[in-house]
Amino acid sequence: MTDAHNLFAPARIGDVDVKNRIAMAPMTRNRSPGAVPNELNALYYAQRASAGLIITEGTTPDAGGRGYIDIPGLYDAAQVAGWRKVTGAVHAKGGRIFVQLMHTGRISHPDFLDGGTPVAPSAIAAAGAIFTKEGQKPHPVPRALAAEEIPGVIATYGRAARLAIEAGFDGVEVHGANGYLPSQFLSTNANLRTDEWGGSVANRARFLLGAVEAAARAIGAGRVGLRVNPGATFNDVADTDPAATLTHIATALKGQGLAYLHLVGGAYSYDAAGIARRSFDGPLMLNGGYDRARAEADIASGRADIISFGSAFLANPDLPERLRTGAQLNAPDTATFYGGNAKGYVDYPALAAAA
Ligand SMILES: Cc1cc2nc3c(=O)[nH]c(=O)nc-3n(C[C@H](O)[C@H](O)[C@H](O)COP(=O)(O)O)c2cc1C
Repeated sequence: MTDAHNLFAPARIGDVDVKNRIAMAPMTRNRSPGAVPNELNALYYAQRASAGLIITEGTTPDAGGRGYIDIPGLYDAAQVAGWRKVTGAVHAKGGRIFVQLMHTGRISHPDFLDGGTPVAPSAIAAAGAIFTKEGQKPHPVPRALAAEEIPGVIATYGRAARLAIEAGFDGVEVHGANGYLPSQFLSTNANLRTDEWGGSVANRARFLLGAVEAAARAIGAGRVGLRVNPGATFNDVADTDPAATLTHIATALKGQGLAYLHLVGGAYSYDAAGIARRSFDGPLMLNGGYDRARAEADIASGRADIISFGSAFLANPDLPERLRTGAQLNAPDTATFYGGNAKGYVDYPALAAAA
């Protein structure tokens, strides 16, 4: 087996050298009060530094994009200083770390925006509710962004990418999936605009591709990844032709030298991985319910270049070593996923400690 087809062999993705093809998938943990990363967050990520690449939890690139309780941001000096603790701790253990930039758009609430109204492509509320400090509240009707405002929102991705480098990150991942702002623009039910930001696939993808371009201009394309999942319905988005959407995005990014394209795991109604592979020429990261056998098979066959693990990495700080040796995995405790303290966060044992 050549190194290019070995899960445990080093690789180069964009401008970044990684020690294996096992990534930690982005996971929101709601443990950064005041939106500022802290020592506990640093410990959590440093424990997982044996990943080829850590992708952080969704992080707000701009104050207008806040959502969810106690998630971190990357738009002010205190946050940059907080993230320096995290990146310093990960680098000290030889790890690599990208920050996931997540503007929540309409998946927010005035409670997270000092009373302000969340923004979105169109004034359409997502179905369902959001968990606030006062319990569940229905998603509010967002304010449709004016066309003149949109370039300014896109520019926040460039600013956040610059701050990411200042904070010591190796790069950024633009969150274009799961029904957050860029994914709201891609959607055919959340975006009913009739200007250049809605309608055709090219128009609906303009925001997302603009965000990637802004980040790439700021720090170089080789330090920018993109996560997408056209067709997924999480957070009440929809796409009448997700294969066309993914084809457009992947084709537009071809030849740009991006660090990677990352597909969220899940059931697709079309061959998303195949389309991404054929239409995009950079590293492809796949995700979703992987175990060692499937991960090795997909790397060996060339279906993927990197595999990201979510809940398994959450529960196993030394996941690469466990996969390599075939050791048993700790089971994730879903009750402590979103919020809380050290419990279910930094107390999952590593192998030596478990023995
Ligand atoms: C606790 C938790 C939080 C998550 N938060 C995010 C997030 O902030 N951004 C994101 O893109 N995906 C998020 N996800 C999805 C994961 O990145 C991943 O796609 C999912 O867990 C499936 O991978 P797995 O089967 O390896 O766990 C989250 C998943 C979990 C379990």
